[in-house]
Amino acid sequence: MKNLILPGLIDTHVHLREPGATQKEDFETGTKAAIAGGYTLILDMPNNPEPTITPDAISKKVKLATGRIYSDVGLHFGATRESSNFFKEIVDKVFALKVYMNHTTGTLLQKDPKALQIIFSSWPKEKVLMVHAEDETLKNAIKLAKKNGNKLHICHISLKEEIELIKQAKKEGVQITCEVSCHHLFLTEKERKRLGPFAIMRPPLSTKTDQDTLWEAIADGTINTIASDHAPHTREEKLNTIQPPNGVPGLETTLPLLLTAVNEGRLTIERLIELTNTNPRKIFNIPEQPDTFVEVDPNLRYTLDARHLYTKCAWTPFEGIKVTGKIKRIILRGNVVFKNGSVVKPPKGQVIYPVN
Ligand code: DOR
Ligand code: ZN
Ligand code: ZN
Repeated sequence: MKNLILPGLIDTHVHLREPGATQKEDFETGTKAAIAGGYTLILDMPNNPEPTITPDAISKKVKLATGRIYSDVGLHFGATRESSNFFKEIVDKVFALKVYMNHTTGTLLQKDPKALQIIFSSWPKEKVLMVHAEDETLKNAIKLAKKNGNKLHICHISLKEEIELIKQAKKEGVQITCEVSCHHLFLTEKERKRLGPFAIMRPPLSTKTDQDTLWEAIADGTINTIASDHAPHTREEKLNTIQPPNGVPGLETTLPLLLTAVNEGRLTIERLIELTNTNPRKIFNIPEQPDTFVEVDPNLRYTLDARHLYTKCAWTPFEGIKVTGKIKRIILRGNVVFKNGSVVKPPKGQVIYPVN
C-alpha cells in the first residue's frame, strides 16, 4: 500500500513543564517530541510548579515559547478560587479551563465545594471546562456542569462506570465530551508489576474489562478525542522516590500505536482522524493549519525504542513494543518539519489562540 496522508494531529492534553520543571521537559524538547509523534499542534496543561493561573503566567509562557517551539502550542488555564477573578481577562488567550478535582501532579487540586461552585459558575458557558475527575468525583463534576450550564470535557476516562455516567449525562442533555489517554487503550493493570514506577499515573491503569469498554466507546462514538496526556518525569524521579510522581510520556508513541490498531482492524483510519484532529478542532475552537499534513507508511514495522525519543525524560512505558506504521514526512504551513526520521531545524511552531 502507498503512503497515507493524515492531517497534522492535535493533542489537547500535554504537560510541557516549562517554566518550573524543565528537568522533565521544556518547550523545545516537548515540541520536538510532538512533531516526531505526528502532532503539529498541542495544548499545554497549567499544573507546573509555576502554574498557569494568572495573566502574567500566560505572558511568561508565551514569551518562553516564542521562537523555540517546533509544533504549534496553545495554552489551558488552571482553575483556583483566586484565578477565577481573571477568567474574563484571559478567556480569549486560552483553549479551556482545567479543573483538578482529584489529587495529582501539582498544586491545583480543588476540593472545597464553594470554590468549585465559584469556578464552574464564573467560567464562560460557551467555552470548554476540562476536568480531571475520576470515578465518584466525575458525578460531582457532572452535577456542577448541569447546575451551571457548562460545556464539560472529561479528561482521560479509564473506567466502565465513567463511560456509563457520561452516556447518562448525554441523555439528560448535559453538554459533555470526553477524552481517552493512549496508555489506557494499550496497557492494563496487568502491566503494573513489569513496569513498576513507569506504570504509575492518574488515573491508574484499569482492568481488561474497563479497557474493552473504552474500545467499544471509541467505536460507538461516546469517546470524542484521544490524547497522549504526555506527562514526563525523569527516570531518577520515578526510580528514586518513595512515592514516584504520576505520569508517563506519550507524544511519540500514540500515533504508532493507533496506526497499529488500524493495521489490526481495531480502528478505522477515518475514526483515527476524527479523534485526533476533527473533533479536537471542533470542541476547542482550534484554528486551521493551512498546508499542514503528516505522511505515513502504514505498513512499516518497527520496535518502540526510548533511545530514539526526543522527550527529555527519555523513557517510554511502551519500550520494546512492535508497531506498524511510521511517519515519513511532516509539513507544517508548507515547511518540511520532519524527514528521514528526524525533526528539522529551525523551529517553525507558533503560539496559537482559539478562533471565536
Ligand atoms: O498521571 C498524571 N500525570 N496525571 C495527571 O493528572 C497529571 C500528570 C502530570 O502532570 O504529571
Ligand atoms: Zn489529569
Ligand atoms: Zn494530564
